[in-house]
Amino acid sequence: MDRNTFIKTCGLACLAGLGGLSACGSIRRVRGDIDADDLVLPLDRFESGKEGKTVFRDSVIVYHEILKYPVCVFRVSGQEYRALWMRCTHQGTELQVFGDRLQCPAHGSEFDSSGRIRNGPADENLRTFPVRIENDRLKISLKK
Ligand code: FES
Repeated sequence: MDRNTFIKTCGLACLAGLGGLSACGSIRRVRGDIDADDLVLPLDRFESGKEGKTVFRDSVIVYHEILKYPVCVFRVSGQEYRALWMRCTHQGTELQVFGDRLQCPAHGSEFDSSGRIRNGPADENLRTFPVRIENDRLKISLKK
């Protein structure tokens, strides 16, 4: 192994380790409800109380038994959310969330919080879903 490969390998391992700690500590997994063609979750699932203050999570992972993959929802603001299918577009491995990135544990593809490819080998962006807010609930449209 040459020096550059060694440094790159060690760097990725460190990032994966740090990301793993971050993911374990901060990503909330929430079971959504299915309502017709929508995956639904209350907006308060993004809230996290800290020292008596309401803090908002940047993202949550929403799952339901009928879905093959979960959906990662990024909270851009109180009125703007992005929902991404957590299926790698390379060979279909379930992605992992590290901060504002989704990474594939199989071959290392990486996507940003809009679902755009940042690193291959995947060559397609992630599937995204339209979202809307109704009565303090986020509705993610699963229609094709
Ligand atoms: S399956 Fe995700 S990079 Fe290959």
